[in-house]
Amino acid sequence: MLDQFNRNITYLRISVTDRCNLRCHYCMPAEGVQWIPHNSILSFEEITEVVKVAVGMGVNKIRLTGGEPLVRKGIVDLIKMMSGIPGVEDLAMTTNGILLEKYAADLAAAGLKRVNVSLDTLDPEKYNKLTRGGDMAQVMKGIDAAVDAGLLPVKINCVQTAQTTSEEKEQLRDFCEARGFKLRFIRQMSLTDGSFYPVEGGDGGRCSICNRIRLTAKGDVVPCLFSDYGYNVREYGIEEAILKAVGKKPATGHKNNVNAFYNIGG
Ligand code: 5AD
Ligand code: SF4
Repeated sequence: MLDQFNRNITYLRISVTDRCNLRCHYCMPAEGVQWIPHNSILSFEEITEVVKVAVGMGVNKIRLTGGEPLVRKGIVDLIKMMSGIPGVEDLAMTTNGILLEKYAADLAAAGLKRVNVSLDTLDPEKYNKLTRGGDMAQVMKGIDAAVDAGLLPVKINCVQTAQTTSEEKEQLRDFCEARGFKLRFIRQMSLTDGSFYPVEGGDGGRCSICNRIRLTAKGDVVPCLFSDYGYNVREYGIEEAILKAVGKKPATGHKNNVNAFYNIGG
């Protein structure tokens, strides 16, 4: 499926929930946000149907995000439903890792191929502060469980903020090198200001080769992280929503005043 700039759209990122068990200061206010009401959230059947249609239109790579995908009840069942769809070649998840210890083995058995784990620092106290309560030891156990389950290659996402020191970056580099993990540095972005940057060590933010579209938890197909357009699959039907979103994919993104990181999945 080509967009108007000849980019081949093969990658669908799905936010399965806007909820999260952490409150990273760059992502959510301390008091949380107004969650999407349950009846607006796509069911597993609806998400699976979107994936089937998207695959028929040329998508072959799927990533589940959030919020935190592992807080959605029954997530292992959703993985099972998706991994059974012929044409889904890559099935990955971006998670904060807090619940990975509990789910890694089941996720792998259900057909998940690999995980990206968000980890911004190796300093437990700083981690606790910046996530407003997260236990870094839990993430480490989660990463070990992912490795044991064969969810490889594990990639580590580090959001770099003004508070990130060069020593911290070095520590993360050493840790990832020692463990054989791929490390990506993501500079803190603002959707409303339109400040965005290419991901160091990944393909995100490189507009000329962007192959992505996004599905929010309430079913909007969104052309770009930095776009206000979105077409709801319940309103337009799946194929039409995807076609409309692909048609609105900008050469380069500008701003997004409609969605936030916690409901669009970064
Ligand atoms: N800027 C950059 N990345 C962000 N993420 C969440 N909020 C922001 C932001 N403001 C990241 C998460 C995770 C990914 C899903 O998106 O840390 O790695
Ligand atoms: Fe949760 Fe990820 Fe947002 Fe942190 S960045 S609050 S882990 S969704």
